[in-house]
Amino acid sequence: MIPAAILAAQIHPQRYAHEAVVCDSKVASKVGAAILSRGGNAVDAAVATGFALAVTLPAAGNIGGGGFMMIRTADGKAIALDYRETAPAASTRTMFVTPEGKLSRDSTRGHRAAGVPGSVAGFWEAHRRYGKLPWKEVVAPAVRLADQGFAVPYGLAISLKNKAKDFAEFPESQRIFCRNGRFYGASEVFRQPELAATLRRIQTQGRKGFYHGKTADLLTKDMKGHGGLITKADLKNYQVRWREPLRGEFHGYTVVTMPPPSSGGIVLLQMLEMVKNDDLKTLGWNSSSYLHLLVEVMKRSFVNRSVFLGDPDFVYIPQGHMLDKGLLAGLRSQIGPRATPAKEIEPIAVDEQGERRETTHFSIVDRNGMAVANTYTLNGSYGSYATVKGAGFLLNNEMDDFTGAPGQPNLFGLIQGEKNAIQPGKRPLSSMTPTFVEKNGKLVLVLGSPGGPTIITTVFQTLLNTLEFEMTIQRSVSSPRFHHQWLPDQIEFEPFGLSADVRAALEVRGHVFEKKPEENGSCHSIQVGPEGLSVGVDPRISSSGADGR
Ligand code: DON
Repeated sequence: MIPAAILAAQIHPQRYAHEAVVCDSKVASKVGAAILSRGGNAVDAAVATGFALAVTLPAAGNIGGGGFMMIRTADGKAIALDYRETAPAASTRTMFVTPEGKLSRDSTRGHRAAGVPGSVAGFWEAHRRYGKLPWKEVVAPAVRLADQGFAVPYGLAISLKNKAKDFAEFPESQRIFCRNGRFYGASEVFRQPELAATLRRIQTQGRKGFYHGKTADLLTKDMKGHGGLITKADLKNYQVRWREPLRGEFHGYTVVTMPPPSSGGIVLLQMLEMVKNDDLKTLGWNSSSYLHLLVEVMKRSFVNRSVFLGDPDFVYIPQGHMLDKGLLAGLRSQIGPRATPAKEIEPIAVDEQGERRETTHFSIVDRNGMAVANTYTLNGSYGSYATVKGAGFLLNNEMDDFTGAPGQPNLFGLIQGEKNAIQPGKRPLSSMTPTFVEKNGKLVLVLGSPGGPTIITTVFQTLLNTLEFEMTIQRSVSSPRFHHQWLPDQIEFEPFGLSADVRAALEVRGHVFEKKPEENGSCHSIQVGPEGLSVGVDPRISSSGADGR
């Protein structure tokens, strides 16, 4: 029996009248909420939370990675900030292809796996354009957490111990995160003096404190010593991009979401469009017919992801075609009662000339209704496992998100296409999907998730749970999820997430289940209603929490 209190915690949202922050670290949520209560806006709180997570959630919170921030101003204008990593100037299209034509492990481990980090530039630009409180004040809590330390949550203690073997190859990481084998226990204080010094340089010098001067010296020296490619010029040249969000309609709601170089928005909108005329309530939530329909829709969107998507600054993306209602209705009409084998699913016909992994998401709404949905990452859990010596931060392994070796699966099993090939300065295709939902021009939902390709299907199911099945936001994010990404041709599901008879009914239709059930995603969401804010804290990450007023 699950104790009633635990069950209630999984179902009842936390409620706040005015403002809220929800993320994978309770300590970092408190940092964001404190900034709000001092008069900061949602962007100030996002920057403070982002830097705090770089201290308290080293697996994914970062200054050595990158991500996307969706910002919605109090008067309803939404904008997307792309601070995704870029491929170093010295990178080449075949740098990760082994003589046997396989993908080299260098795409996920060590210094060569790292793209030029974007997080600090992203936070700096977001704050420059929208922040209210002084930069120094929003970075201060992270400096303090790194300097004075914080009590290690149980989940972090376990995670660091589990990663001992991976860190063993990287002495600086092993020293900092595993204390050379004297592992941190739950509640022990974890101090990170080198990281504190780096954050202090960022606090006093702004973006220059990372991309120039001592931090840049330490990073590039570390690169040279370990066969990495990032140079001073790469750091100096790094630029964020402001992008126009994508918009789609679903049952009277407007979904405002991340454009390329994330695949998240396009794939999400394709999937919503394909199920929009189905009577999902009658099919029944997570019935075999419901799973069949959603899985077939997922496959058809992911094949198009693989063929057509990449960095829009480098390759042409047929965005109009991909979101064309007629084409998507055509795809929907191909779905019959049986599973279509992945290999038989064709990408849409387009006239090209015509037009574990770990990430972390947080959602914020301030008292004026300004909102931030931010997903950022090192890619894998603890990224490349390499810590910049003397600077105390982990480097991403985002180069693995490119098509490193044609036809070969990446860390997430994705088989990707030509448009996502490595090129100097290019951004690897992402699945991160920070998203807002509006109704009649008013904000109703802020959400997003980690989970590689499962991010998109997590956001898709959370939207359906909330908008279609009218679950509370807490039940919506707690409920079990499933996933299909075209290849490998199998349904993934969570522990206790699928009953034996539903699975049997799906097998009769031709669906395949090979992967061991695994939890995925951490879809921290805020629902905005007339009675205030309802917060869904995803219970899958044990240190998660919300705070607000
Ligand atoms: O951008 C992406 O799609 C991946 N780098 C995200 C990785 C991720 O979500 C890992 N989290 N569990």
